[in-house]
Amino acid sequence: MASAKRDFIDIAAHDAGYLRHLLELTGHLKRGEPAGGSLQGRTLAMIFRKSSTRTRVSTEAGMAQLGGHAIMISDHDSQIGRGESVADTAGVLSRYVDAILIRTFAQDEVTELAREATVPVINGLTDLLHPCQVMADLFTAAEEFGDDLSALTVAWVGDGNNMANSWLNAALRFGFTLRLACPVGYGPDPAILARARAATDVEVLGSPHEAVVGAHVVTTDVWASMGQEDEQSIRETVFAGFQVDAPLMALADPAAIFLHCLPAHRGEEVTAEVIDGPRSRIFREAENRLHFIKALLLDLIRPRERFG
Ligand code: CP
Ligand code: NVA
Repeated sequence: MASAKRDFIDIAAHDAGYLRHLLELTGHLKRGEPAGGSLQGRTLAMIFRKSSTRTRVSTEAGMAQLGGHAIMISDHDSQIGRGESVADTAGVLSRYVDAILIRTFAQDEVTELAREATVPVINGLTDLLHPCQVMADLFTAAEEFGDDLSALTVAWVGDGNNMANSWLNAALRFGFTLRLACPVGYGPDPAILARARAATDVEVLGSPHEAVVGAHVVTTDVWASMGQEDEQSIRETVFAGFQVDAPLMALADPAAIFLHCLPAHRGEEVTAEVIDGPRSRIFREAENRLHFIKALLLDLIRPRERFG
């Protein structure tokens, strides 16, 4: 009998035990320890409807390192870009490949793909969420502060975007303190915020200073995400007081680290002094994308069988 497939499209969809298992597997892979098998002969389709450097390259390299293969599919050279339906794409790709990663705009498109596909689907970023990045960020924080993530205080400074929403989902599952400083009107998704608030210590504050005091992790992201390029100029005005600079970092815990999913705009959301300074862990964070996606691919792509 075929077993249910598992997708990874939203941190909140998984329990803390499974998420911890993925972080442990990430650690095994990073340390070069036996991690349970290879993906020899297995194939991943990667649908990118937005640009990417880290997600694409870490995933493609990760599949190669595990003995498998990844196929890049973009809007420009596939029928997806010409309007072929999600359901037909899911039905066809499920018969060729062992898993699908998708980066796109609408979260609903990923949910529909996961529903229609008979192979696991991974969310490589939507307008709403960026779960694989925040899992890599949690792993980076654990490397610095230990495995008990519930003891952390994390400060998010800036836009209530896909990264902020995924940090909220991480706080929901791991129970750490999360303080977000966002301009009025640029807060996180209200439903995701309410759900996290009901479960753990989450505050949305108007001032970056209040958010950062005593934090172990200070993190931010671009002011205009992919798809918001025409808002860049207005957002530069709105977010002017939300830059992570050295005086702001000085308010954090003395051992605090700075994280940024990248790409970054030095001089906008963060100064060069901070992102290129001694507290920054951006390249370790980027490296951890590779170890995490390998763990996820190994976990999701089960021994060969057809699902559904
Ligand atoms: N952080 C991240 O997802 O980077 P890319 O857009 O380069 O994939
Ligand atoms: N919030 C950013 C993250 C990029 C990795 C964006 O969606 O463009």
